Amino acid sequence: MSGQNQKHYQKIGSIYDDLWYYSNEYIRFMTTSIIKYLRLKPTDTLVDLGCGTGIYSKSILKQMQLDNPIICVDCSEEMLKQVPLSSEYKIMAVDAINFVSQAQAYNKVLIKEVIHHIDNKELLFSSLFQRLPIGGIFLLILLPPTIDYPLFSQAIKRYEISQPHYNNLANLLEKVGFNVSINFVEYLHSIPKSQYFKMVENRYMSLLSFFDDKQLAEGLAEMEQKYAQQSILEFPDRFVFITASKL
Ligand SMILES: C[S@@+](CC[C@H](N)C(=O)[O-])C[C@H]1O[C@@H](n2cnc3c(N)ncnc32)[C@H](O)[C@@H]1O
Repeated sequence: MSGQNQKHYQKIGSIYDDLWYYSNEYIRFMTTSIIKYLRLKPTDTLVDLGCGTGIYSKSILKQMQLDNPIICVDCSEEMLKQVPLSSEYKIMAVDAINFVSQAQAYNKVLIKEVIHHIDNKELLFSSLFQRLPIGGIFLLILLPPTIDYPLFSQAIKRYEISQPHYNNLANLLEKVGFNVSINFVEYLHSIPKSQYFKMVENRYMSLLSFFDDKQLAEGLAEMEQKYAQQSILEFPDRFVFITASKL
């Protein structure tokens, strides 16, 4: 991860859940899909790689019981501070590449909205393929090449040039040996405009940390104008779920 992104997560770690939560219903919905695509069973050992504050690990345990602790890995200690210190989680403050080079037993891996931060994706994928047992599943979740978030135009542009394309990732996963399937999962957000503007003001997405205070203020003014008539913002959030299985 770049130094700028590292600083970004260190800075917003303590308020991340307030910024990203959107709603309980949304987290529940995403979690149900994660459990389904990972084909999660109580006996599985799950790694949440780039877990952040553990929003989804915590939510998974609200929906089902796991016999083994979830291995929560993130390179930002500030983000990890939000993961409860409990026997249900094994917390590891290491880089993803470093983690997959270590000998550890697990059969399910979740990487959600992290892959754009990883430079050597092929090394990550091939190491995961080697680590997973036959029958193991790696679920890679990312945003598609274009998004309909009510952001300002420069932010959308910046997103579109930097977001990896899911087809390239799927090809890479096949190349290292995985059997791959791609699905799209969509959720319609409906949130107060003031809440979304606060999220943007606080640079809830790491891409917003590329804009200085003046540029962000200009962006927010553009949004203010565009959504002047609305008090609630409705927009679809589409996710690409790449299920990579080791057969
Ligand atoms: C957008 S957040 C996603 C967090 C979580 N997966 C979620 O969906 O709520 C990205 C996370 O990836 C972590 N991250 C970025 N690069 C990483 C790396 N190379 N190794 C481990 N974690 C990394 C960041 O620290 C941050 O917590």
